[in-house]
Amino acid sequence: MERLQKVIAHAGVASRRKAEELIKEGRVTVNGQTVTELGVKVGSSDKIEVNGLKLEREEPVYFMLYKPRGVISAAEDDKGRKVVTDFFDDVPQRLYPIGRLDYDTSGLILITNDGEFAHKLMHPKYEIDKTYAAKLKGIPSKELLRKLEKGIMLDHKKTAPARAKMLSIDKRKQTCIVQLTIHEGRNRQVRRMFEAIGHDVLKLKREQYSFLHIEGMRPGDRRELSPHEVKRLRAIADHGKSAF
Ligand code: URA
Repeated sequence: MERLQKVIAHAGVASRRKAEELIKEGRVTVNGQTVTELGVKVGSSDKIEVNGLKLEREEPVYFMLYKPRGVISAAEDDKGRKVVTDFFDDVPQRLYPIGRLDYDTSGLILITNDGEFAHKLMHPKYEIDKTYAAKLKGIPSKELLRKLEKGIMLDHKKTAPARAKMLSIDKRKQTCIVQLTIHEGRNRQVRRMFEAIGHDVLKLKREQYSFLHIEGMRPGDRRELSPHEVKRLRAIADHGKSAF
């Protein structure tokens, strides 16, 4: 759900402030009812009219991007650094990322202009699995990985159950690659989980977000999600992953 004035502004009818004035003046209806309060939130199926004319919403678009390292997960950066939406300069819609990956983390991130969809997917309640490949300094024992899976204390709160799998070991360099699947999204969670068991993360990549993966893509590549993929994500957000 998004604020009515924001939806009107996004549709290009008026600035956000002008949209607020239109609402207060009683010139906006939602599903046939005049709305004069500013707090009202609307969803994508609500019918909005401004001055008796139906509001044509911006066409919703859904992409996945293989974010390279050294890119900010935001629509703009006040320091002028490269941001994820720079990979969509040819797309007319105003886009933003769903959730975030650290500046130095690469991998799969979803990009959309559908605020309601983004909001749903980001809600921790829906426990969307995210799978990371982490290159670690040192080689953790099986016991340590089990500990991660069961949950460890971060910020005085135990992490939810996770899955950890050793993918490869470089004995000479004393590094390894561990795949970790979590469904929480706390700040720098994967890095901090490995640090908590004594292994620094040298490189981090998100390989999978729910059923979507970056196989066959290279850093900087993007692709539009199919209507079926969007529908599946929506169903997962609506009913939880146990629906699949
Ligand atoms: N966990 C991290 O530590 N960093 C990310 O970017 C994502 C998850």
